[in-house]
Amino acid sequence: MDRIRIAGGRELNGTIPISGAKNAALPLMIASLLTDDTLTLENVPHLADVEQLIRILGNHGVDYSVNGRREHQNGGYSRTIHFTARQIVDTTAPYELVSKMRASFWVIGPLLARMGEARVSLPGGCSIGTRPVDLFIDGLSALGAEIDIEGGYIVARAPKGLVGARYAFPKVSVGATHVMLMAAALARGETVIENAACEPEIVNLAECLNKMGARIEGAGTPTVRIDGVTSLSGARHRIIPDRIETGTYAMAVAMTGGDVMLEGAEPELLKSALDTLEQTGVEIVPLNSGIRVRRNGAGIRPVDVTTAPFPGFPTDLQAQFMALMTMAKGKSRITETIFENRFMHVQELARLGAHIGLAGQTAIVEGVSGLKGAQVMATDLRASVSLVIAGLAAEGETTVNRVYHLDRGFERLEEKLSGCGAKIERISG
Ligand code: EPZ
Repeated sequence: MDRIRIAGGRELNGTIPISGAKNAALPLMIASLLTDDTLTLENVPHLADVEQLIRILGNHGVDYSVNGRREHQNGGYSRTIHFTARQIVDTTAPYELVSKMRASFWVIGPLLARMGEARVSLPGGCSIGTRPVDLFIDGLSALGAEIDIEGGYIVARAPKGLVGARYAFPKVSVGATHVMLMAAALARGETVIENAACEPEIVNLAECLNKMGARIEGAGTPTVRIDGVTSLSGARHRIIPDRIETGTYAMAVAMTGGDVMLEGAEPELLKSALDTLEQTGVEIVPLNSGIRVRRNGAGIRPVDVTTAPFPGFPTDLQAQFMALMTMAKGKSRITETIFENRFMHVQELARLGAHIGLAGQTAIVEGVSGLKGAQVMATDLRASVSLVIAGLAAEGETTVNRVYHLDRGFERLEEKLSGCGAKIERISG
């Protein structure tokens, strides 16, 4: 299993190109199931999760081609991929595939809407919490689907098609909102979703669906109206820059000091995180070409943070922010409200010398004057990268084990960081 070795204690200076967003790419790729025409997606990141979803979609009958099969021509960044689901050959998403990536459960929406049936394995728990699917079941039932659970599979049927309805989510869910948008796009009549997730990835999906012929209004607000249509066509659509990758590198610079241009980043996608970073003493300069992040000399001020659905502070940046706070001049409190078990990085950060106490869903971080390199390992994507950025700031050598988590969500991580002066390398095997 690959590891990443970091010789820490160096400033970051230079330019980091920001990739297309993983969490926008996945639902957009799934949307290709809604039409027999070609959906062309630009700025698709080269990530393990994207490759895995390509395999899963292939199982349902989606063909794809990458930039006319010249995928390495531009160095691997920003690929354009054409997806065509001329015919759906299988409406079952098996356990072996869904258990590897939770987002693949979302195929339930388009399969049900287009084919009138879907049989999708329950995704099961994962390392950040139980992550149930009750909201998907309730939402699709409201659109008239009959749903049974048979042998670990959700079997959804709507032989006469889905029917628009008013549905209020009891809790905000990104995935369930994606699925409701895709299902309602092909339902008969009007659907109104209340308490919808407002994440930029939802807006990115809705804009694409509208290009495909859907009639969706209000995406990005809690109330979304969808006027169902009988069929959707192909389209060409660009994936937004990855706000979590942007925030992660911004926090890395905040930890190590230095001056980095995050090329292609869009500040409005992560305003809350950037405001929080400014409060810690980091200089954030939004420019036309991206965001410049700079911290010179001055210490890191402690700031309390509570994760929340968009536009709040994202749970996907909680671990990275905690890494930063381990070196703040004082005490900070970090409260996680989205997932009940997303503090797996705490004990690993402690191996680097951090002082963190846990009180329920709140971590109390007592800043230390410096971290020291160590062997660490993480159990999810964002926790892994928090250890990488802590390692960059720590004195001496840090080895991050089990880096396959990083490959799921960070394109060319070592290359991007080395380009800014980090001493970071992958050790294979
Ligand atoms: C998406 O996951 C993201 N994944 C996650 O990023 C992100 O952390 C999360 O949204 C929150 O922002 C993708 O976009 C691929 P949710 P999702 O449904 O959609 C509960 C990463 O690192 N819930 O918004 O699965 C759930 O347990 C990943 O890139 C129910 O109770 O998250 C959680 O507590 C990790 N019932 C809360 O809602 C349901 O039926 C929010 O989850 C569904 C969810």
